[in-house]
Parts: sequence; C-alpha cells; structure tokens
Amino acid sequence: MGLEIVVRDVFKIYRIGKVEIQALRGLSMTVEDGELVSIIGPSGSGKTTLLNLIGGLDKPTAGSIMVGDLEVAGLSPRQLTDYRRKTIGFVFQNLNLIPTLTAAENIELPMIAMGIPRSERMRRVKELLDVVGLPHRASHKPDELSGGEQQRVAIATAMANDPPIILADEPTGELDSANARMITEYLVKVNKEFEKTIIMVTHDANVARAADRIMRIEDGVIKETLEPTSLIETARPVSYTDQIKARIADVDRQLRNLDESFRRGEIDGDEYVKRRIRLKNLRLSLEDELHRLGTVA
Ligand SMILES: Nc1ncnc2c1ncn2[C@@H]1O[C@H](COP(=O)(O)OP(=O)(O)O)[C@@H](O)[C@H]1O
Ligand SMILES: [Mg+2]
Repeated sequence: MGLEIVVRDVFKIYRIGKVEIQALRGLSMTVEDGELVSIIGPSGSGKTTLLNLIGGLDKPTAGSIMVGDLEVAGLSPRQLTDYRRKTIGFVFQNLNLIPTLTAAENIELPMIAMGIPRSERMRRVKELLDVVGLPHRASHKPDELSGGEQQRVAIATAMANDPPIILADEPTGELDSANARMITEYLVKVNKEFEKTIIMVTHDANVARAADRIMRIEDGVIKETLEPTSLIETARPVSYTDQIKARIADVDRQLRNLDESFRRGEIDGDEYVKRRIRLKNLRLSLEDELHRLGTVA
C-alpha cells in the first residue's frame, strides 16, 4: 500500500555565509495514494530539494508536508530517522550500493537496521531479488553488475522494509536508453503490483511519460501538471550530452555564487580557494566527458 503526499506552500532557503538561495518558493503539490508521479524541470530548479524534504533528509524553511496523517516538517530528529526507515525507500542516480557487499547483503542491510530476524530477512531478500529479476545475481558485488543491474538492486534495497513511498532521484541518469527503459518498467511494476506511491525525478521525457502524471518544476514551484500523453508532443528526449551541458551550467552558477560571497567577505580565502578548486575540477571532468562525446561546450 502507498500513502498520500500533500505538500503546501513549502519554502526551502539555503544559506551559504550570508548568501541566500531560495531553492523552493512556496511549492504545493499533491500525490495520491498509489500514484506514480514524475517531476521534470531544469537543473537547479529544486527537484532534489523537494525529494529530500518529502523523504525527511532535510527540513523545509516554511510550509507543510503531510505524508498520510504525519506532518513530516514537525518531526524530531529521532522521529525522522524512524520515518526514513519505515516510510520511505530512496533510489538515487549514482548507484548508491555499498561496494563491499553483495547484492543480497545490500538488500538485507535496511532490514538489519529495523531489527528484522535473519530468517525473515533471507526470505525477503530472495523475494525482492525475484521482483527485480536478479535471483542469479545474489552473491555478486556491485562492480560485478552492470549499471542497470545495480540500479535494479537499488530498487530492491529501497523496497526492503516495504515502505509505502518510493522516491527516485534521476534513477536512470547514468544509464543508456535500453537500461533506462528497463529501470522505468521496474518502477512501474513496483507501483502497480505493490501499490507504492512513487515520485521519480527525471531529465528523460521517455522515463517521465511512464507516470500517471507529470509535474514540471521551475524556479522552486510547480509550473504545470501534464498528462503523460501531452508530453509526447511537447517534449523531446533530453540527450546525455544535454544533461552534461546542464550540469556545466549549474557548476557555472555555483561558481558565480561563490565569487559573489567571497567578494562580499562572507567566506574566508581558504574556504573560497578550496571550494573554487573543487568546482573547477568538477567542471573540467564534465568538459572531458563532453569532449569524449565529441561535443564542445
Ligand atoms: N545543500 C545546499 N546548499 C546550498 N545550496 C543548495 C544546496 N542544495 C541545493 N542548493 C541549491 O538549491 C537550488 C536547487 O537545487 P536542487 O534541488 O539540487 O535542484 P535540481 O535537483 O532541480 O537540479 C540550486 O540553486 C542549488 O545550487
Ligand atoms: Mg537534482
């Protein structure tokens, strides 16, 4: 079973020194119990911030986030930990499995945290490996699995404690289109068969279209809600090259913010240099990736 999610007038303001970044600006949205919603929108528009708030990884600056009967914005740190374990399953973009553990052990881990007995854990691991079609990969470590297989294990891991809600942040971001399609199909399966409420953030119109509804976020608010069929006409699939370009633009924006806060004396020289080098290196590796793809930034 799933749960309904009602987000009302949520603001999230990040402060870096004295600089304020308004990541969410009065965002409201409702996701029904058992619904699969995808969220699309440009880089930096607040997609990850929104998922982090719904998932209890961070707190809104203002506003309300009701998940079932629970006001997530009002939970104590201890209650949040409990909420994250029981209510939310996370699937991230960058294949977030523990590299030293096998597929089965990765899936088992969240159940250990919940104190589930070993025999029950074993039964559930087997069941979940079947759900994602990987019973033959139980004892493989992540680096012995393809990107698509790793992400299927990540879905099984997110399902371990049978949470009513799955939050997926660009779950196909690092996959080729065939694997992206497969991961999308598994998320749809989890939604339909297990009636989980799912929110998935994606850059890929082909992935977004698999949802019941598509919400477009821009500048920290939901700009429009679309039916999947309408996206077929309006949106073109965003290529990997375009995604890299969007990330470079995002890094450039962060560089400008950083320069600005240094100019205003809000961060000291050491901190400034440290952050600038990190961002510059990130930009260089993104540029390398573009060159590798035969494109010039
Ligand atoms: N921890 C943070 N500290 C400061 N600024 C942040 C932080 N996380 C995100 N931001 C900023 O908030 C805005 C929204 O970011 P994010 O939610 O990651 O967007 P998206 O996932 O849509 O690319 C961006 O301007 C980003 O730089
Ligand atoms: Mg993001």
